[in-house]
Amino acid sequence: MTPETLFDLTGKTALVTGGATGIGAMAAEGLVAAGAHVLIASRKGEACEAVAVELNGKGYAGRAEGFGGDVASEEGIAALVSEVEKRREALHILMNNAGRTWGAALGEHPYDAWDKLLKLNVQGMFHLTQSLLPLLLKAARPEDPARIVNVGSVMGDVPLGTMTYSYAVSKGAVHHMTRVLSNDLAPQHITVNAIAPGPFPSKMTEFALGHDKGRDRAAKGVPLGRVGEPEDIAGALQFLCSRAGSYLSGAILPLSGGMQAAAPSNLFGEDM
Ligand SMILES: NC(=O)c1ccc[n+]([C@@H]2O[C@H](COP(=O)([O-])OP(=O)(O)OC[C@H]3O[C@@H](n4cnc5c(N)ncnc54)[C@H](OP(=O)(O)O)[C@@H]3O)[C@@H](O)[C@H]2O)c1
Repeated sequence: MTPETLFDLTGKTALVTGGATGIGAMAAEGLVAAGAHVLIASRKGEACEAVAVELNGKGYAGRAEGFGGDVASEEGIAALVSEVEKRREALHILMNNAGRTWGAALGEHPYDAWDKLLKLNVQGMFHLTQSLLPLLLKAARPEDPARIVNVGSVMGDVPLGTMTYSYAVSKGAVHHMTRVLSNDLAPQHITVNAIAPGPFPSKMTEFALGHDKGRDRAAKGVPLGRVGEPEDIAGALQFLCSRAGSYLSGAILPLSGGMQAAAPSNLFGEDM
């Protein structure tokens, strides 16, 4: 290993759930570009296949494969795991990215919003991880651990009031699950980290960031003054999954332009 190959992912297999759109697609492209063989899975199998074909046409060092998979039920997870087993003997990288949200005011947040959110964002993430451990262990080496990257959110760190009660709480749970699993799995040479993105344009955030005005408005709340871009996700994944990030576990990487450390005003409320 030389400094020139610190971020190289040649020979590694990754699974990115929800990898046909948004943050998952940004990650999948970053991993393929660095040389990985990336499996992309979500409920819309055809969309995953189409994204894989697109990535394979870009001349990157790695390859992509897409297929259907549902992380929100026990049967769906079992089927997804057997699809992965059919394709690869070991899994070096698991990116638990599939997620959903729900917006409703306090007093109107429906009972169902909790069940649906936690089933995918927390229960599904845990159960998929647990079910893929045998494949991850096959790839794990003391000098090159297998990697799990969970997708949390800046909303899991700071109490942002955007009517997403069940979502924000699910992401706080993802962050804590990340630390708990890191503690359990580090001795088995598997790192477990999370990224905690701020605002990134995607299907989920289309309603707010799908137009210039919305992006400019959101950028005002970000200390670095812009919304997230694909390179921010791709760079973080290349770091977390390569030799460069192999001594890091249990971290919640704040990919939010400084939002996680922003104070509402200075101590004495004075204009600066
Ligand atoms: N965009 C942001 O600003 C932001 C900020 C912080 C965190 N995040 C997190 O980033 C992750 C990706 O979200 P995104 O913003 O990129 O939105 P997105 O484009 O809507 O992506 C969500 C993905 O999850 C997949 N998915 C949904 N339900 C699934 C299921 N039951 N099984 C498997 N896959 C499922 C969807 O594909 P199918 O419909 O084909 O299943 C879709 O590809 C989420 O965990 C989200 O909470 C996003």
